[in-house]
Amino acid sequence: MTLPQSAICAETGDFAVFLTLTLVPGAERTVRAILAGFPDMVEAVAAEFAEPRLVGSVAIGAEAWPRLMGPKRPAGLVPFAPLADGDRFAPATPADLFVHIHSPRHDANFALARRLMARLGSGATVAEEIHGFKHKGGRDLTGFVDGTENPKGEDRPEVALVGDEDADFRGGSHVSIQRWVHGLTQWEGLPVPQQEGIIGRTKETDEELDDSVKPPSAHIARVVIEEDGEELEILRHSLPYGTTSDSGLYFVAYGRDPATFRKMLDAMVVADADGNYDRLMDFSRPVTGAAFFAPSKDLLRQA
Ligand code: HEM
Repeated sequence: MTLPQSAICAETGDFAVFLTLTLVPGAERTVRAILAGFPDMVEAVAAEFAEPRLVGSVAIGAEAWPRLMGPKRPAGLVPFAPLADGDRFAPATPADLFVHIHSPRHDANFALARRLMARLGSGATVAEEIHGFKHKGGRDLTGFVDGTENPKGEDRPEVALVGDEDADFRGGSHVSIQRWVHGLTQWEGLPVPQQEGIIGRTKETDEELDDSVKPPSAHIARVVIEEDGEELEILRHSLPYGTTSDSGLYFVAYGRDPATFRKMLDAMVVADADGNYDRLMDFSRPVTGAAFFAPSKDLLRQA
């Protein structure tokens, strides 16, 4: 039985800590051993806080993978490739490790993050630390419900976890992250019907717009991609983050095949033959981008 790390299939908690780290050359052996102990560390902090819904996962980027895990790598694990079209840009930013912690309690998340960082010491440097929070019961800061069409129940492992197609890495998951910064003043100046046309769903009641009225540039029109009659799927764990001056969505997606996220992002950024791209990109822009693989607990523990 190959168990996935606990943050992946769990329901998104009300609070999250998202950490991207860079690995200090020479510290590989120490860091590898600390990562091996991360699942136990999650359980220890969960027990201390009597919070069983405290979950965490660590994931490793393509360049750091051979340094930490050896020459054999998960199929499709490559560095995040930047994308650009017109004035739209999805950058790639440096990160060797991604730490994802979530639970109903910020204090428990924070304690776990601090414990991990204390153990890592000078072995890893923080590229970015972002604290996410659930807003109005699951709405993005744009005011729209985010996560409605996320896979549920048994579909979650099916969508997120690598299976027999890459047997050595079964139970692991490909992770893509992007921090998006919203232009909220500009967004809030738009009449609600226009906002609904940009997302492709109604704001208050979260219903999908009928195909006869949903613009081809709507967010959900871009990211819903069918192949062989099946919709491509990812498992999203995104949450709002920010300060009063700089805020947006910390986007996190897990998937068994990293190509799925790329196809969706491509359809958002790159205009099709009719000039349609994701209109959301006129109101929000990604400022970071990185790809990782979160090994199964068993593989992680084999340090
Ligand atoms: C759906 C917001 C970025 C993939 C949605 C929905 C909202 C939303 C409000 C509709 C409700 C739902 O089903 O969850 C945003 C915002 C983003 C963002 C505010 C950044 C500013 C992305 C990115 C991707 C993505 C980067 C993938 C590359 C999806 C998918 C769905 C979705 C797959 C479900 C579509 C469906 O099955 O109907 N998003 N999203 N989103 N989004 Fe995003």
